[in-house]
Amino acid sequence: MVVEDPGVALVTGASAGIGEEYAKQLASHGFDLILTARRKERLDSLADKLTDKHSIKVEVIQGDLFETSDVDKIAAHIKTIKNLDCLVNNAGFGTDLDFLDGNSDINLFINMLNLHCKVPMQFTHAALPGMIKRDRGHIANISSVASLLFHGYQDPIYDSTKAFLSVFSEVIQLKLNILKSKVKVKAICPGWTVTEIHDKLKNFDRSPYAWMNVDEVVKIALDAYKSDDIIVITGDVNVQRVQKSRKEARETPGRYFYY
Ligand SMILES: NC(=O)c1ccc[n+]([C@@H]2O[C@H](COP(=O)([O-])OP(=O)(O)OC[C@H]3O[C@@H](n4cnc5c(N)ncnc54)[C@H](OP(=O)(O)O)[C@@H]3O)[C@@H](O)[C@H]2O)c1
Repeated sequence: MVVEDPGVALVTGASAGIGEEYAKQLASHGFDLILTARRKERLDSLADKLTDKHSIKVEVIQGDLFETSDVDKIAAHIKTIKNLDCLVNNAGFGTDLDFLDGNSDINLFINMLNLHCKVPMQFTHAALPGMIKRDRGHIANISSVASLLFHGYQDPIYDSTKAFLSVFSEVIQLKLNILKSKVKVKAICPGWTVTEIHDKLKNFDRSPYAWMNVDEVVKIALDAYKSDDIIVITGDVNVQRVQKSRKEARETPGRYFYY
């Protein structure tokens, strides 16, 4: 990825996993950073390392994106950044609670809906006008291959919130294309990626899946920085999974009604 005169990149969920790796790779490309998450000590330590290693500025904003006041505060801050070139809507989490079980906590699913849909929508709304005006910038919405694969073993809320992110990104980019804008909005769709997200799931068996590391995933995502492609599926193995699942869905009776 080559970006001339990189400005500021804001990364949500920068205290771990894919967000932390985005921060590292964006820093190596010369972006100044705004890093946000709840665990401030991790953000401070990452900020210290990145400012030591690269000649960049790093600002840390502690915020809990389940809290409307923190989301509003960060959205208001985004509107004030004159040279915001990159927004990475990455913060997210998984769950093994069963939506179909009446005893599962609805508040957890509401938090997931807000974190995966409302927050990226609000931050994109705050960032886009400035980017469109300057005719440059990139928004990466960290979705998932789960947004493109549908079968009964998946999680209804995680997958549908990620499907929102993919469709949201695609439609905004199509509108930007009509405006002939150079601003890029992408849905980044990783498959199984080694991070902390699965550690919080009880009885999660890592063995059956094709795992990728965060550095490969973020490199692929950033290689697509200026491309015209909107849905970025990271890795051949994941592209094949999506193609197979789409074909099966089309061909399985009882899924789609064609008249
Ligand atoms: N790993 C995978 O296999 C995979 C695959 C496809 C898509 N993804 C997506 O990739 C994104 C990053 O996940 P990851 O795998 O890197 O997970 P991770 O290692 O668990 O990191 C999640 C990040 O989100 C932040 N976060 C979570 N809840 C938050 C809240 N309420 N407020 C603010 N920040 C919050 C966490 O920070 P704090 O806890 O410090 O707040 C952390 O920095 C997610 O959107 C996930 O759905 C992951």
